[in-house]
Amino acid sequence: MSSIRELERVASSYATRAVYLDRQGKTDSAITMYKRAVEMLMKITKLYPDYQLNQIYIQRAQAYQRRIRKLRGEPDGSLMEPNGPKAGQKLSYDELVLTDKPNVRWSDVVGLEQVKAVIEEAIIYPTRRPDLFPLGWPRGILLFGPPGCGKTLLAAAVANEIDASFFSVDAATIMSKWLGEAEKNVARLFNAARAVASQKKPAIIFIDELDSLVRVHSSEIGGEARVRNQFLKEMDSIVDKGRRLHVYVIGATNKPWNLDWPFIRRFQKRLLVPLPDTPTRLKMFRHFTKDFTLARDVDFRRLAERTEGFSGSDIRDVCQSAQLNVIRELFRSKKALTADVKPRPVSMRDFLDAIAKIRPSVTEEMMKLYRAWDENFGAY
Ligand SMILES: Nc1ncnc2c1ncn2[C@@H]1O[C@H](COP(=O)(O)OP(=O)(O)OP(=O)(O)O)[C@@H](O)[C@H]1O
Ligand SMILES: [Mg+2]
Repeated sequence: MSSIRELERVASSYATRAVYLDRQGKTDSAITMYKRAVEMLMKITKLYPDYQLNQIYIQRAQAYQRRIRKLRGEPDGSLMEPNGPKAGQKLSYDELVLTDKPNVRWSDVVGLEQVKAVIEEAIIYPTRRPDLFPLGWPRGILLFGPPGCGKTLLAAAVANEIDASFFSVDAATIMSKWLGEAEKNVARLFNAARAVASQKKPAIIFIDELDSLVRVHSSEIGGEARVRNQFLKEMDSIVDKGRRLHVYVIGATNKPWNLDWPFIRRFQKRLLVPLPDTPTRLKMFRHFTKDFTLARDVDFRRLAERTEGFSGSDIRDVCQSAQLNVIRELFRSKKALTADVKPRPVSMRDFLDAIAKIRPSVTEEMMKLYRAWDENFGAY
């Protein structure tokens, strides 16, 4: 069985590829890639029905499906009326807001104390006591760092902690590029967020994989420059005009170096979400195994020491794989067919075997790049 991590990675690379082809006008190949991304995302939700980020993935899959329909409906630009989208193509408010919020709490995010504290200050305090912030408060928070360390998870947790409306978008939704559609999508998104926030309920716009929205080296064909500018304009207007409104933008990226300065600057808080250190990995092992039956020889301290360089997502995979080992054994012995036979406890050996199979997904080289970017651009 593939791990969630692999499926997430594959889905994300299909989607990135799809958006890229889409922008180049290679409709057929783009459709194929969007379809694969949808299949992967749906596979995650089917194989792992309890996965915390499923709601986000379902919404994302729907966005890709809409894009596929749009691309299919207008196979040839010349056949279209030049006045832009038909009524039915507008992104409706419902499609933008994630009403069914991901089921993630602050306490589900292990470690990252400093990052949590900064977010708390930046978002939670002003929401509770806006009167204490005469000069306003930061609206843009950029989370950057290696893959699988909790950026998306953090954003989902914030949405729950402050009872906010959570607008989750990704590049494919925004880049629906038919004749200026993309910049209109940006405007609609911010309008919808402002509308919610004016009802006294904070709104969080979460843009995952922000770097695919703006690339420093993108050849600015078509509407790309316009999308960018619209985005920058909207970011400014929530700071100026929307001064008392609780609209926040959280951007996440694992390629911060693809962002340029005008973009970076609008995120006043820029936080590195680092790889877990040894004590945090220890906590993660405890967290991910809280529903396991463990053998007495399991030594989390040793496991934490043996997993230098592993991301949170890697550690989760280790735990999953250790547990599956036990289940596999049970099925092979045919005992699983008798309902009252319980699997044996998960032992140290199961964890060590799992660690041997899983290679850390982040190299020291990569970490150096993140730390360098943090030194230059980080802001806490
Ligand atoms: N700090 C953490 N606490 C608890 N779980 C974590 C943590 N970091 C990662 N995980 C686990 O790994 C999964 C993937 O994390 P997440 O999607 O938040 O990573 P990310 O930083 O957004 O990665 P990417 O850059 O690839 O998008 C989470 O759903 C969670 O199960
Ligand atoms: Mg993510």
